[in-house]
Amino acid sequence: MIEPSDNETLPNILSVGATVPEKVLTNEDLEKSLDTSDEWITSRTGIKRRHVLEKDETPSSLGVEASREALEDSPVGVEEIDLVIVATNISDMPIPGSSPLIVEELGLPSDIPFFDLKAGCSGFLYAIDVAANMIRGGGYDKILVIGLEALSRIVNWEDRSTCVLFGDGAGASVIGDRGDRGRILSTSVHGDSSKSKLIRLEGGGTRLPPAEGSEQDERYYLEMEGKGVFKSAVNMMKSSSLSVLEDADLTLSNVDWIVPHQANIRIIKQLAKSLGVGMDRIVVNLEEYANTSTATIPLAFKEGIDEGFIESGDLVLLTAFGAGAAYGATLLEW
Ligand code: COA
Repeated sequence: MIEPSDNETLPNILSVGATVPEKVLTNEDLEKSLDTSDEWITSRTGIKRRHVLEKDETPSSLGVEASREALEDSPVGVEEIDLVIVATNISDMPIPGSSPLIVEELGLPSDIPFFDLKAGCSGFLYAIDVAANMIRGGGYDKILVIGLEALSRIVNWEDRSTCVLFGDGAGASVIGDRGDRGRILSTSVHGDSSKSKLIRLEGGGTRLPPAEGSEQDERYYLEMEGKGVFKSAVNMMKSSSLSVLEDADLTLSNVDWIVPHQANIRIIKQLAKSLGVGMDRIVVNLEEYANTSTATIPLAFKEGIDEGFIESGDLVLLTAFGAGAAYGATLLEW
């Protein structure tokens, strides 16, 4: 957890890159294989489309593309990156994680350290918190943080209550202390392990190892208690948002833009209502991408910048919740 103090320079989020696969699955496409409708999905979630990887595409290739964008957009050279953190819930393969694959494909120095971080859909904000603290600790200067997810590979495409909600995507940021934008004002990460069963994938680990015939077993797909998640989501994003504001001695009236985790438009609207903030100060893009887990925050943040909503000097609040239950927020001046 980072709080500002008068004599301390906090690191910056120097750049943001984001990407999604080309292939698009619309609600109408899903109507053809599932007992669902565009009307149901749109009214219950706000989602219209999602982008998904083709069979021969790899999740880490999305991370590489987003990272290239983030590196090009930053004043930092590839050779200066001294650590890579990949926030993901499902890496390309169980061992090793996706981080070394991305380091190699990006052509970063082969001797730098890397690790994967798993914190549900809050992974990108957890990774920012960890990176900022590691830089503050003095051991690192420029850290590449990636949020990468391909949930299309682990949802049950016959389960209408989950598969309609998710898409694939990746985002990346260079965290460092050079540059005049993206100054982090405070970060906070939190957990509520009493909710660890709300979102889960039981099969494939050591308790329930990969097994023959597992494609018939729902435990080998992402499962979720939708209503339970819904109820907790607003409280988690609200409390972490207020926590970073308090740490920075600021209030919601100082915030120009909130970029929340893009899971469901109804959750986002309730968050806005409970914070007393108008929807015109909230970045929303889930209609196009659905819930891309660790990638929603960089995807929406970048869209806000590219579309010209988020301008230089704006105070931006990023907030997310997800499996674990892990949640958190980051406050920055863009
Ligand atoms: N199409 C049509 N009907 C569907 C459907 C779909 N895709 N998915 C579920 N239904 C049905 C259910 O089977 C149920 O039918 P029944 O009444 O005959 O039993 C009905 O719709 C209502 O289901 P319910 O679960 O009560 O809907 P809901 O209003 O709670 O919305 C979610 C379901 C999943 C959209 C909502 O709970 C949600 O978004 N939760 C948060 C999930 C989330 O964000 N997860 C990721 C966190 S990182």
